[in-house]
Amino acid sequence: MQRRREAGTGEGAPREEGGAEVKTSSPSAEPGMWSDLRETFQDLVDAWPGPPVGLKASVSLVAMLVIYFNLAPMRVDNGSADSCDPVRTYGEITERGMQMLTTVAGLTGNAAPRGGFVDIGSGNGRLVIWAATPSPEGAGFARSSGVELQLERHQEALKEAALAPSDAQDKIALVRGSILHHLGLLSNASVVYWNNLCFPSDVARTVAEEFSIRAPLGAVLVTLAELPHSSRAEEQTLPGLAVRRPDELLEMSWREASYRPFVYTRV
Ligand SMILES: C[S@@+](CC[C@H](N)C(=O)[O-])C[C@H]1O[C@@H](n2cnc3c(N)ncnc32)[C@H](O)[C@@H]1O
Repeated sequence: MQRRREAGTGEGAPREEGGAEVKTSSPSAEPGMWSDLRETFQDLVDAWPGPPVGLKASVSLVAMLVIYFNLAPMRVDNGSADSCDPVRTYGEITERGMQMLTTVAGLTGNAAPRGGFVDIGSGNGRLVIWAATPSPEGAGFARSSGVELQLERHQEALKEAALAPSDAQDKIALVRGSILHHLGLLSNASVVYWNNLCFPSDVARTVAEEFSIRAPLGAVLVTLAELPHSSRAEEQTLPGLAVRRPDELLEMSWREASYRPFVYTRV
C-alpha cells in the first residue's frame, strides 16, 4: 500500500485488492534487503534516461538510500494486514470514497443516515466532518465522532471542525487517544468506519470483540482489512457479527485501485 510520504508505504505481503498486486520488500531480512536495494537502484537508473551514466548512478544511489532508510521503519511485523506502522503510515479516504460509504453501510433511500457515526483513527477529521454535514454535501448523521491517537492530526481535526457548517459543528465529537481507551464510542454507533490496514492484530481483535458486544443490534462496522477471528481458538468466526463483502468499492488517497471493504453487522 503506497501512501502519503509522511506516512509512507505500508507495502506488505503480496496481495491482491481490486486486481492490484503489491510487491513485497523486507528490510529486516538480509538477503531480501540486498536484492530490494539492487532492484530499487536499477529501477531508478532505468527510469532516468539522458544524463551521463556516472551522474545517473550516483544520484540514483543517493535517492535510493534516502527512500529505503526513510521507509524501512514504517514496515513493521505487527500482524496488521499491510505490515505497516499504524501512526506513521497515513492515508485518507477520498471524497468519492466517502460518498460511497453510506451505500456500503447499507444506508440508502428511506434508511438514510441517522444515528451515530464513528471513525476509528480519524486523522485530520475530514471523514468525521463529512459524516456530520447535512446531506447532500455530507452524510447527515445525527452524531459523528472520531478518535485519533496522534496529537498533530487531532489538533488539525479540531481546527477543521471549527470551520465546518454550524449545523454540523454541534454534532461532532473529536477525541484524542487510543480507541482502546475509548471503546465506549462503539456503544452509540450505527456506523463505524475503520481503516484497519496498519492496526496490530491484538488491537484489531479487541475492537472487533468489543464492537460485537457493545454496538447496538444492526450497527455496522466497515473495515478495509478482514478482522481477526475470535481470541478463543475454537471459534472460527466472530460471534455476534455477520460479515458481507459489498460490490461497491471505496477509493483511498494512496493508490488507484479501490478497496472492496468488509461490512460487519452486529446481530
Ligand atoms: C490511515 S489513517 C485514517 C484517516 C481517516 N480515518 C481516513 O480514513 O481518511 C489512520 C489513523 O489512525 C490513527 N491511529 C493509529 N492507532 C490508533 C489507535 N490505537 N487509536 C486511535 N487512532 C489510531 C493514526 O494516527 C492515523 O491517523
